Amino acid sequence: MIGLDVGTTSVKGIALDDDGNVLATASESYPLSTPQPGWAEQDPELWWRATQAVLAALPDDDAIGWSGQMHGLVVLDEHGEVLRPAILWNDQRTGAECAEIERRIGLERLIELTGNRALPGFTAPKLLWLARHEPDVYARVRHVLLPKDYVRFRLTGERAIDVADASGTLLFDVAGRRWSEEVCAALGVPLAWLPDVFESTAIAGAGDQAAGALGVGVAEPGPVSVVLGTSGVVFASLPEYRPDPEARVHVFCHAVPGTWHAMGVMLSAAGSLAWLRSVVGGDYAGLDEEAALWPVGIEGLLFAPYLAGERTPHADPDARGAFVGLSLRHDRGALARAVLEGVAFGLRESLDLLRELGVEPTVGRVSGGGAASELWVRIVASVLGLPLERVAVEEGAAYGAALLAGVRAGVFADAREAVARCVRVRDRFEPEWDYDDAFRRYRRLYPTLKELR
Ligand code: XUL
Repeated sequence: MIGLDVGTTSVKGIALDDDGNVLATASESYPLSTPQPGWAEQDPELWWRATQAVLAALPDDDAIGWSGQMHGLVVLDEHGEVLRPAILWNDQRTGAECAEIERRIGLERLIELTGNRALPGFTAPKLLWLARHEPDVYARVRHVLLPKDYVRFRLTGERAIDVADASGTLLFDVAGRRWSEEVCAALGVPLAWLPDVFESTAIAGAGDQAAGALGVGVAEPGPVSVVLGTSGVVFASLPEYRPDPEARVHVFCHAVPGTWHAMGVMLSAAGSLAWLRSVVGGDYAGLDEEAALWPVGIEGLLFAPYLAGERTPHADPDARGAFVGLSLRHDRGALARAVLEGVAFGLRESLDLLRELGVEPTVGRVSGGGAASELWVRIVASVLGLPLERVAVEEGAAYGAALLAGVRAGVFADAREAVARCVRVRDRFEPEWDYDDAFRRYRRLYPTLKELR
């Protein structure tokens, strides 16, 4: 089974045997372009070329599963040619369009129809932006695809999407697991532009969060998935469709047929640490060692992780980051530890919202680049008040995509069997430090910073 993850920084590929053991991995990176502050774009051709290189480096197999960065807008003309660079999940240009969507449809009705509110990362507001700012391009649009689905289209000619990724478009009836005719009509988006929809196990595909959750064994309520990737996520499988009345967390279809999930998404998690490293230098292992020398709470230093605006819990593309409480004693390790703690606090706010929805996690399964830091995992476990486990194979979304390929090919009866057979826990970290005070102070940061803008 092959799993692909068409990510923000690279395409990652993995080949597994029938018990989930890794036979081979490959990856190919590419840049992200930010033509204006707050914008994030990528040429779909980069994904296609990287995917070809990754597939060439893996054993030949027809059972390919697909995952990728969610929400990105790829627009094609009548010949299937790409019309402009893709606008990505972390692009923040559509604040005005989000307000317009909520005004046109009504916030309450929008939540009724889609389970979610309009957030700048989602796909639909990007289409409205295109109509307003690039009408010539918009006039030529005939097909809309998400990133990994575009790459599948290049490989197979098939225009398709899974319910999990479709949920993040804001054009999707998440409860009914089909396109929302009412939302599409209200936004002037022809249904003919949209690809055919399948359950994740039928098409062997899912957005990276749903695929990643499967990859760490989150197929049903119990464990939650905690992701320390570029973005930071707390993801819980739901026993039934249960939208947040105020849509403070996302409620999407899960990759397990007939189930849903809720998640909070921070835009800069490991992304904040990557930023810090680019500013202060050093390598991750070194920063980690220096951070470990500081005590819990870093003598009053706090970090607000809003470098690229924030989704959960603030839904604010204009939020910005800050260090607060600096003293002469603070050094590079202190800044690094403040980033680790600040991101953990942001995840705690998402988990608290999930708990309000009735989620009662037993354990978190942590993944993403940041999970390589034991210190960070211990901090997050302590801040969340939840034991965290790392799994044996840390290939995240690509691993989940490969499991979906296995289900589709009949290697496993269903997603739950795939998880039971393949996902193994490697180590576990219990909460050990008291972060109540620091978290209370952190929660006052956002409103205070907002006042200063
Ligand atoms: C999820 C989201 C991000 C991207 C990262 O809603 O926007 O996690 O999927 O690739």
